[in-house]
Amino acid sequence: MSKITAAITAVGAYVPEYVLTNEILETMVETNDEWITTRTGIKERRILKDPDKGTSYLGIKAAEDLISKSGIDPSEIDMVIMATATPDLPVASTAAYVATQIGATNAFSYDLQAACSSFLYGMSTASAYVASGKYKKVLLIGADKMSSIIDYTDRTTCIIFGDGGGAALFEPNEEGLGLQDEYLRSDGIGRDFLRIEAGGSLMPPTAETVANNRHFVYQDGKTVFKFAVSNMADVSERIMQRNNLSHDDVSWLVAHQANKRIIDATARRMQLDDSKVLMNIQRYGNTTSATLPLLLNDFEKQFKKGDNLIFAAFGGGFTWGSIYLKWAYNA
Ligand code: UT7
Repeated sequence: MSKITAAITAVGAYVPEYVLTNEILETMVETNDEWITTRTGIKERRILKDPDKGTSYLGIKAAEDLISKSGIDPSEIDMVIMATATPDLPVASTAAYVATQIGATNAFSYDLQAACSSFLYGMSTASAYVASGKYKKVLLIGADKMSSIIDYTDRTTCIIFGDGGGAALFEPNEEGLGLQDEYLRSDGIGRDFLRIEAGGSLMPPTAETVANNRHFVYQDGKTVFKFAVSNMADVSERIMQRNNLSHDDVSWLVAHQANKRIIDATARRMQLDDSKVLMNIQRYGNTTSATLPLLLNDFEKQFKKGDNLIFAAFGGGFTWGSIYLKWAYNA
């Protein structure tokens, strides 16, 4: 019997309608389009304006898009993993709610949090369940309502983030396609440089923490940038080396969309042509857990069966890593 690998067999995505442009941000904080474009590559991002909707809404819409495109019966899904840094509620799995809403009534489900690396780590988890032979249909959703944790008076963070969701279905493959290798890392020194200070067990919410804006994202951008550039490039190069992949063998770089300069630096280290580097940061900004599946959905039609995709991400914690995956279908 041939070895079972875990392949992505369908993708879907959703972004909210409201477009927050650099021009609108110029009216909110002291910034300008030129600074944002040259420092980050971002032109606009989507924001979920409805105060009654949380991250689950983004995840449900993305999953429904995948279900309608692929025609799968949601009751056949074995498991739903919700990669997110912004769950609907601190306690009560967002994944459980999403699974029920999409009709995945026979699935078990849970959330997975690794900041901007959540979807990448989720790919490892989803693939391991499938490759073990235990489950046949694992739905991985990456979604974040970043606008719920961003201070829109802080120009160092509010220009970067956006809201969105994406989904990928993992199924067994006997042709050797799907996930080939992974190299995942973490380092706890990172929590001084990118975090939300209050609202967790270390600093439970009080009137004072709210008054002092400690429930919003804080980032020491310069430091995070340095770690992101060197670590994302290191792991991507390493995964190429240990799988004997030259830059000609790599079809696409699917990198977390945090900053165009970080993605460019990773691509340079891999000696990749720009044409192989997937980019949609200009339209969505950094959507945290949603960047990788949004790329898959936007570029799905360009992928060919057998293409070599290198995924890379870096996020709070710190968490980071790279995954080598062979694409399994022609859209
Ligand atoms: O996804 C999770 C991981 N996160 C990341 O990978 C993000 C990593 N960091 C970054 O992408 C970048 O560090 C930022 C985009 C956040 C900032 O870019 P930078 O080139 O590192 O800028 P900086 O923080 O060094 O600031 C340069 C200058 C400063 O002014 P002075 O001190 O040189 O006078 C800032 O005050 O730009 C100023 N500045 C701004 N100016 C206009 C900071 N934010 C803004 C702004 N508009 N929005």
